[in-house]
Amino acid sequence: MAALPHADQNPPEATHATSFIHAPALRNAWHPVAEVADITDQPLAVRLLGEDIVLWRAADDTIVSAPDRCPHREAPLSIGTVDNGSLVCRYHGWAFSQDGSCVAIPSSGPDAAIPPAAHMSCHQVTQRYGLVWVCLGTPAAEVPTVPQDGDPAFRRINTGVDTWQTCALRMVDNFLDISHFPWVHTGTFGAGQEQQVPKIDLSQLDDDFFGYAYEVDANNPDIATATTGTDEDVVHRYMTTGFALPLIVRSTIRYEDGLEHILLLCSTPVDETTALFTFVVWRNDDHSVDPEEIISFDRAIGAEDKAMLEQVAGVLPLGRTDLVSVQSDKPSVEWRRQLNEALNPPMSQGAPQ
Ligand code: FES
Ligand SMILES: [Fe+2]
Repeated sequence: MAALPHADQNPPEATHATSFIHAPALRNAWHPVAEVADITDQPLAVRLLGEDIVLWRAADDTIVSAPDRCPHREAPLSIGTVDNGSLVCRYHGWAFSQDGSCVAIPSSGPDAAIPPAAHMSCHQVTQRYGLVWVCLGTPAAEVPTVPQDGDPAFRRINTGVDTWQTCALRMVDNFLDISHFPWVHTGTFGAGQEQQVPKIDLSQLDDDFFGYAYEVDANNPDIATATTGTDEDVVHRYMTTGFALPLIVRSTIRYEDGLEHILLLCSTPVDETTALFTFVVWRNDDHSVDPEEIISFDRAIGAEDKAMLEQVAGVLPLGRTDLVSVQSDKPSVEWRRQLNEALNPPMSQGAPQ
């Protein structure tokens, strides 16, 4: 993934941690906000980076994103309807085509001119991994590549979108952290796990993800056997965990029999302390086990993280000296450093040449 550019951006208006959602580097990034399957024949309301947006499916099946605020009297467009691919406002029936153009004002009749200000600016939308990704600004990089996607040996499983009452930055920090496993994941794979974390070496894992490889003995309770493919009490896992700026984390798990289980962990800021969570799974299994059974263990693990993080108040600080970190926090420290640099670029990078 290309580096997040700063050169064409004004310096962020506010650089303190509580307004990270307004940083250009986040506005210029792709964020998954829904599953493709969620966009049906009705508009869908979503909040991203503090902005209300509406998603709908156009006649040619593309998915459209626009501000959820009618230019006429600011009614939420998400309570309207979709008619032949156009979004129709519920208040006075103005209709908007998939490029945001206002195409009908019923009160003016079919021949009246449409005021230029009636047209809306749509957001960039892309579909990847069964998810709808929206960029409120100009995309600085592609959605990170998961090499297993499209590999016929792997099947993909989508898992739905959940809302967590926590800061999205805390979620990424948590997903990069293995030292909480024996403390938080006592009901799933972490019970009795070694508490001391081995030395972590960070490296570029592939084109888009930066992180580390490690091995772990994981508890394998009954709920896990469909996922691990074995009923042994403990399974050995060869794992990698890495991030793609700004907020995507990937964990890969390989078992000794060659079974691989890839998780893409997506944290999308709704606002400063609310986030969407969705994860996507790829597996090179024989497809014999029902997808819901496969992901029920991952769901239980996610519920443990959610319960923990919803107890931690406020925005995750990004400054180098804001938190106390130890050797097991090395991946998070590096991600926070890189993210902080992307969100708060030096003033000179935004200045004219
Ligand atoms: S507020 Fe949408 S048409 Fe009037
Ligand atoms: Fe966790």
